[in-house]
Amino acid sequence: MKNELILILDFGGQYNQLIARRVRECNVYSEVVPYDISIEKIKEKNPKGIIFTGGPASVYGKDAPKCKKEIFELGIPILGICYGMQLMALTLGGNVLSANKREYGTTEVSIDNTSLLLQGFESTNGFLMSHTDYVETVPEGFRKISSTPSCPNAGMENPEKKLYGIQFHPEVNHSINGIQVIKNFLFNICHCTGDWIISSFAQESIQKLKEKIGNGKALCALSGGVDSSVSAILLSKAIGKNLTCIFVDHGLLRKNEGDEVEEIFRNQFDINLIRVNAKERFLEKLAGVTDPEKKRKIIGEEFIRVFEEEAKKLGSVDFLVQGTIYPDVIESGLGKSSVIKSHHNVGGLPDYVDFKEIVEPLRDLFKDEVRKTGLELGIPENLVYRQPFPGPGLAIRVIGDITDDKLTILKDADSIFREEIAKAGLHKSINQYFAVLTNLKSVGVMGDERTYDYTIALRAVETTDFMTGIWSKIPYDILEKVSSRIVNEVNHVNRVVYDITSKPPATIEWE
Ligand code: XMP
Repeated sequence: MKNELILILDFGGQYNQLIARRVRECNVYSEVVPYDISIEKIKEKNPKGIIFTGGPASVYGKDAPKCKKEIFELGIPILGICYGMQLMALTLGGNVLSANKREYGTTEVSIDNTSLLLQGFESTNGFLMSHTDYVETVPEGFRKISSTPSCPNAGMENPEKKLYGIQFHPEVNHSINGIQVIKNFLFNICHCTGDWIISSFAQESIQKLKEKIGNGKALCALSGGVDSSVSAILLSKAIGKNLTCIFVDHGLLRKNEGDEVEEIFRNQFDINLIRVNAKERFLEKLAGVTDPEKKRKIIGEEFIRVFEEEAKKLGSVDFLVQGTIYPDVIESGLGKSSVIKSHHNVGGLPDYVDFKEIVEPLRDLFKDEVRKTGLELGIPENLVYRQPFPGPGLAIRVIGDITDDKLTILKDADSIFREEIAKAGLHKSINQYFAVLTNLKSVGVMGDERTYDYTIALRAVETTDFMTGIWSKIPYDILEKVSSRIVNEVNHVNRVVYDITSKPPATIEWE
C-alpha cells in the first residue's frame, strides 16, 4: 500500500491537509510529517517526492521553521509551495524580499509551460496567491518559470536537481486546474505510477490486523457513527469473534437508531455485540438538569461508567480499538504523538479498561476514504453517509430539562423532517439537519379546541467544516409539508419554526 509515498513537510500552512488529499486523489499515497523530520527518517521512508507546504512565518522570522540543506542533496524531487519555495530559495543562496504589501486572491500568473511542472497550461493561468514575502532572486542553477506583476519569481526550477518552487497554491479550488500542477509533479517529475487505490486498503488492512492481533482479544466501543463502525467491521473481518463491541444505548439516539445499529452489527455482520440499554440510568441522572454543559458532563461520565461495567465483565483484553482518523493525527501534532479519540468526544483515554495496546485501523485515512472503505466492506450507505450526530445526542436538542415524553416528541418530529428531506433529495446537499424541541409552549387552535403545546424548531445547515455554516434555503413547499406533518402526526406540538441563523453568530446545535 505504501510503496509509493509522497512526504509532505508541514511548515504550518493552513492547506497542509488539502495538499495530502490532492496527492491521494491522484492515487499516490501521501503522509504529512513535521518539517523537522530527520534526514535519516526521510531516507528510511524512501519517498518518491517531497512537498514543502506553505506557512505563516517569514523566512527571516526569529522562530521561522527551517530545513536542513542536506535535504536538497538527497536526489529526491522536492516541490516547495509558498513559504516552502521561499525557504528553498533562501537555503540554496537565493534572496527573499520581505515585502510590505500582501498579494492575495486568484491572480493571473504568467506561465513558462516548457517546465515539466507547468506542462499543459496556457501562457497564463489563474492561481491563488496569498503571500507578502517573495523570492527576489532565484538561487544559482535555478530559473524562473512563472511570475505576476507584483511577484517577479512566482515559480522556479532546477530540473537537474529535481527542485521546484511555486509561490501560488495549486491545492485550493480558487486555483484554476491547480491539480494539474500536482499531477505534473507526481507523474512527470517523481515518476509515480499512481497505483494506490483506497479499495485495496480494506483487504490489506484486514491482513495486517490479522498478523498484528493473531489470537488476541479486542474490545471496541461502538457508537453507530461511521468511524467506530468501519473500525469495528475491519477488526471483525480480521479476528472474528475475538472482537467484542460494546454499544451503550443511552436512549438519546434518533428514532429507531439503536435498533438499526444492532441489526447491522449483530445480524448482518455477525459481530459479538453487547448492547446496553441504559436509557433509564441516563434519564435518572439527567432529571431536572437544564444547563447544557452539565448535561454533556453527566452523559460523558455516565457513558464511561456503563462502558466500564461492561468491560470489567469481559476481563482483560489485548487490544482496545479506537476510531482515530488522519485529520485527528495531523491536528494533534503530526504523528509525533498519537491522539486517542474518546467515545462520543467525552473523557479521555479509558484507563479503566484493562488492555495492553491501542489499535487504530483508520489512522491513515481521511473521512471520505473512511466512507469509501465502509462501502467496500458492505456497510449500508445510510450508515456510511450518516450526518454528524453529537455524542450527547438528543439531550442537547431538548432545550431545558429532559423527560421521556419530550424525547418521544422530538424523535417523531425529527424523523418526519429527515424523511421529507430525503424524499426531496436534499440529504446530500444539506450537511446537518434536525429538529429541536424548544421549551416554549404557545397557544394554538386545533379543530374547535384551544391548545397550549410545544414549539418544534427545524435546523438545517450547509457547511464543509462545521466551524462555520449557512442556514439552508429549503424550498417553502418542503418546509410546509414538514410543518403540516409534524403538527398533524406528533402529539403536543402545535407550532413549527425554521431557524434562519447562520454560524456564526449561532452555533449549529441549540445547546
Ligand atoms: P456547534 O453546535 O458547536 O456544533 O456549531 C458543531 C458540530 O459539532 C457537533 N457537536 C458535538 N459533537 N459532542 C459531539 O460529539 C458535543 O457535545 C457536540 N456539540 C456539538 C454538532 O452536531 C455539529 O456537527
